[in-house]
Amino acid sequence: MSARSPWYVANWKMNLTPSAARVWCEALRAGLDRLQEPVPELGVAPPLIALDTVRQALRGSGVVIGAQNCHAEASGAFTGEVSAEMLADAACRFVLVGHSERRHLFGENDEEVGRKAAAAVRAGIEPLICVGEKEEQREAGQTPEVLSRQLDRALEYLLDLRSADLTLAYEPVWAIGTGRVADASQIEEAHAILRGKLVEIAGEKTARTTRILYGGSVTPQNAEKLAPIEGVDGFLIGGASLDAARFLQVACPRARC
Ligand code: PGA
Repeated sequence: MSARSPWYVANWKMNLTPSAARVWCEALRAGLDRLQEPVPELGVAPPLIALDTVRQALRGSGVVIGAQNCHAEASGAFTGEVSAEMLADAACRFVLVGHSERRHLFGENDEEVGRKAAAAVRAGIEPLICVGEKEEQREAGQTPEVLSRQLDRALEYLLDLRSADLTLAYEPVWAIGTGRVADASQIEEAHAILRGKLVEIAGEKTARTTRILYGGSVTPQNAEKLAPIEGVDGFLIGGASLDAARFLQVACPRARC
């Protein structure tokens, strides 16, 4: 049996105002109350401006909150940025690091991803490290090399890998927000590459206990097929997470949420 329980994380990206976030949380709580099966492990990463609203509205629900990004430094003259320490103080339990939109729209490189992951661990919050190949890299047969390099660099600054809590998300860039989902063999292969690499750099135990989520056009319609794929420990959900009922249906496809 797997030592890992699945985790379902909503990444709202730059969507939902604080008022809309409150409505979302109420709908999620109503769905959770109606659930006739064990409550799954859920996380939500709202925009920073809605963080406190979400924290209050989900208090006591067991849903953990996180952020979509952080700066690598603890404090300083970095106008517009937020540090992992600040997120920890605002009750964040995890932070996305290296999301493909950060990498490709905001020019974040592997080195910054690694420094941010280390900053999160230093602040006591779990980095949810996203990796994934672009379509042209997949077509050129470079997926294993891209994933290995991204993971290597993302873990480079973590001093005590064996005791750090972290989660990975395999998110092929071509599947994010496109409606195109990677197929089972692509997902299985990518997750196996990442787990093999984890064994190499962090040891068997960390590799066995670290969750690897899949992300990229996950919906309630395809979640049931994706969940049993070997090595998939949950999902990072963008578009489909903007509706609380759909988010919950991804986590419990059979429940009438
Ligand atoms: P998507 O986004 O579910 O809308 O494809 C996933 C993500 O970017 O994490």
